[in-house]
Amino acid sequence: MAAVFIFLLLLFSFSITTAQQRHSNISKTSSLTPTTDSLWFSPSGFFAFGFYHAEGGFAIGIILVGNPQNTIVWTANRDEPPVSSNVSLVFTVHGLVLRTSQGREISIIDPHQNASSASMLDSGNFVLYNSKQEIIWQSFDHPTDTLLSGQRLQAGAELVSSVSEKNYSTGMFQLKMQHDGNLVQYPTNVPEVVEYAYWASDTHGEGDNATLNLDADGYLYLLNATGFNIKNLTDGGGPQEETIYLMKIDVDGIFRLYSRGLDQSSEWSVEWSSSIDKCDPKGLCGLNSYCSLMDQEPVCTCLPGFDFVDKSQKSWGCERNFVAEACKNNDGSIEYSIESLQSVMWEDDSYLVISSRTEENCIEACLEDCNCEAALFKNSECRKQKLPSRFGRRSLSDETTAFVKVGTSTATRRAPKESKKEWRKDILIISCSLLALACIVLAISGLLIYRNRGCTLKKVSKQGNLRLTEGATLQSFTYQELKKVTNGFTEVLGKGGFGTVYKGAMSNGQRLVAVKKLNVSTGEKEFRTEMKALAGTHHRNLVQLLGYCLEGPNRFLVYEYISNGSLANLLFTPAKWPRWDERMGIAQNVARGILYLHEECETQIMHCDIKPQNILMDEYGGAKISSFGLAKRLKHGQTSTLAEIRGTKGYIAPEWFRNQPVTVKVDVYSFGIMLLQIICCRKNFDLSLPDEEIGLNEWVSHCFEAGELGKLVDDEEVDKRELERMVKVGLWCIQDEPLFRPSIKKVLLMLEGSIIDIPVPPSTSTTYFSAV
Ligand SMILES: *[C@@H]1O[C@H](CO)[C@@H](O)[C@H](O)[C@H]1NC(C)=O
Ligand SMILES: *[C@@H]1O[C@H](CO)[C@@H](O)[C@H](O)[C@H]1NC(C)=O
Ligand SMILES: *[C@@H]1O[C@H](CO)[C@@H](O)[C@H](O)[C@H]1NC(C)=O
Ligand SMILES: *[C@@H]1O[C@H](CO)[C@@H](O)[C@H](O)[C@H]1NC(C)=O
Ligand SMILES: *[C@@H]1O[C@H](CO)[C@@H](O)[C@H](O)[C@H]1NC(C)=O
Ligand SMILES: *[C@@H]1O[C@H](CO)[C@@H](O)[C@H](O)[C@H]1NC(C)=O
Ligand SMILES: *[C@@H]1O[C@H](CO)[C@@H](O)[C@H](O)[C@H]1NC(C)=O
Repeated sequence: MAAVFIFLLLLFSFSITTAQQRHSNISKTSSLTPTTDSLWFSPSGFFAFGFYHAEGGFAIGIILVGNPQNTIVWTANRDEPPVSSNVSLVFTVHGLVLRTSQGREISIIDPHQNASSASMLDSGNFVLYNSKQEIIWQSFDHPTDTLLSGQRLQAGAELVSSVSEKNYSTGMFQLKMQHDGNLVQYPTNVPEVVEYAYWASDTHGEGDNATLNLDADGYLYLLNATGFNIKNLTDGGGPQEETIYLMKIDVDGIFRLYSRGLDQSSEWSVEWSSSIDKCDPKGLCGLNSYCSLMDQEPVCTCLPGFDFVDKSQKSWGCERNFVAEACKNNDGSIEYSIESLQSVMWEDDSYLVISSRTEENCIEACLEDCNCEAALFKNSECRKQKLPSRFGRRSLSDETTAFVKVGTSTATRRAPKESKKEWRKDILIISCSLLALACIVLAISGLLIYRNRGCTLKKVSKQGNLRLTEGATLQSFTYQELKKVTNGFTEVLGKGGFGTVYKGAMSNGQRLVAVKKLNVSTGEKEFRTEMKALAGTHHRNLVQLLGYCLEGPNRFLVYEYISNGSLANLLFTPAKWPRWDERMGIAQNVARGILYLHEECETQIMHCDIKPQNILMDEYGGAKISSFGLAKRLKHGQTSTLAEIRGTKGYIAPEWFRNQPVTVKVDVYSFGIMLLQIICCRKNFDLSLPDEEIGLNEWVSHCFEAGELGKLVDDEEVDKRELERMVKVGLWCIQDEPLFRPSIKKVLLMLEGSIIDIPVPPSTSTTYFSAV
């Protein structure tokens, strides 16, 4: 056994040495052809220089040998068309020259000096030497889309992505090592200015001649001209002997660090990437379209009233599918309607910004203005736009709503352009069959959408009616998958009444998730109902459910991971207290989330457990409602339910105890308690405080009636009238009688300041004091 092994080892090293003798020193008149003897290997055989297959023929460059697939790490003359098989590549004193069968010579590598030898090195660097054995040209100085370990990206140089996995021509995105020390990603063919940048290392001003470096252990970092480390992109420290690392700007515009075992058949895995949001690269979707993520993959969609210029080239953008006509008829009626897109926005290029309280105001303002082609609405500001729009994207955390003006009558649909008529005839047949296919797909997806009907995208036509579109999909996981995702259920994020929450990571560690293991007592039917209830919900102020696992007794729900802990953690830790305006923002966020559950979903959902512990904070300070374990879905038309008590002590509305039917007003009650906590940054009951301050409700009522609201916020600088309004809202919410409590919509309007005159709430303090 051992003897055989040693024999094999000897054979192996022998073949390597012959390879070395044959190829490491390429001398004058050595040549390659695409079909026979197509590669010069490096001594170890890992890298090779020469011909490889590309779309439409052969390309010349450097490959990292792999089985079944080679990895292309460098391409010569990448924008020249691929060559045919009857050419030869010859090493001459002038460098590398391609000879066609007609005797034509094309320079592939021109070192501008007389070359005497060349070598494919084990580092993946292809090098030309002069007669003094000095390097006169090396591929490491002319990177295409890949950086190998030991290679540097010099100041002024860039990596440029390829067109596709098969076409190595210059693609759409670049990573530039700028002279100002900043490493920046831009689309290609645009000015390198900040408005086009979509990623930067933020090392601007660290001096010129900074470099990007990759070490053999996967360490990716920036050095300034004197070799001082100015930024670490990755930690490194990976295994060196048995692993190959490379960094590449991929076709999708994101640059990633990959690793692979030495074994030719092992696969690449992503160690790090510049972004996890594939919609980040600007220009991925062209003009008048926007990018959104579906199952982590970017999808381009045209604005309403627009179609793709070329469906196979979505980056070319979209053009109008109707002819813009006079904006108003003679009788003053308006020819257009407005379609709205929630959470969609683009590069703001407004010609006019007006303040408008509601979306409807903004819609009106745009309809009446003949110059207005679209508008972006956010924070009571209506930004009127001219099209085309650029860098559009949809991200659920964005509160912007986009409005686009579209033609109302079908008569205004544009007829095919004259010049394109012939061509259009050709594709008529194809389009017809495509149309049929589309109808089938539509029918099917319509069914799916109907089943999973959520409230994601509201389309508001001029009449103001809502049309619901876009369904939600849930991923199903096996227990084994979740075990892997959570690394064997090691990191516990929290424990609650109905289970334990673990931290996990999906897609090679790029997407963090929270995996909730439900107690065994959860029935299957209950679980399925719950899941369906949530599958359709989609709102920036609700934690999103991504998937589930139902395998025997194992019941899991997989949620998006929210990074900044709970609101309770913020409110009850003095060092973390948010400022007043931040706190009011949080209260509005939560109210919006509740509003969605109460009024915007297909069927009304009561959360039943609104409290600071169940509000999670994202990295931008936005609040999201979580823990739907107790949520109760009301059937269509049903407004109240007689159910067993749900909720948490201190936040439970009194009607639960009176055995009365409960309505969505129980959430308003819990919200009111929480609002008082948000105002005062303290717990419901705090025994460490003086007697009269122990119970929050009583203390607030007392201060309100005594006109001493300042006591509630200590010495924080808060606008007195605003404080009074907020306290009033809180006190209205916690009225004993559910009918007295405002709807959450009204609560939101009061919080936002749209309703300013808030009546004085009936006193609750007496009852509370008697109860204590
Ligand atoms: C390559 O071969 C040439 C001639 O055979 C020799 O002069 C040169 O030193 C060799 N170069 C290397 C790097 O071995
Ligand atoms: C590769 O992409 C370039 C740029 O889009 C294009 O001009 C070229 O024709 C493509 N090559 C092939 C073989 O399709
Ligand atoms: C070489 O190949 C090209 C493309 O396949 C062809 O057009 C040309 O005629 C060939 N030349 C010879 C001499 O075979
Ligand atoms: C380069 O080589 C050519 C001949 O191939 C020779 O005439 C010329 O002098 C050489 N130049 C240098 C700088 O050695
Ligand atoms: C590199 O950084 C070091 C430390 O900040 C600084 O002393 C040095 O001047 C920098 N070099 C250049 C060329 O900016
Ligand atoms: C950067 O490199 C250029 C050219 O090599 C050189 O002239 C310049 O002095 C360098 N700057 C610094 C700060 O090292
Ligand atoms: C980068 O990491 C190295 C250690 O790996 C550390 O010495 C250096 O200070 C770090 N640089 C920056 C800018 O954080």
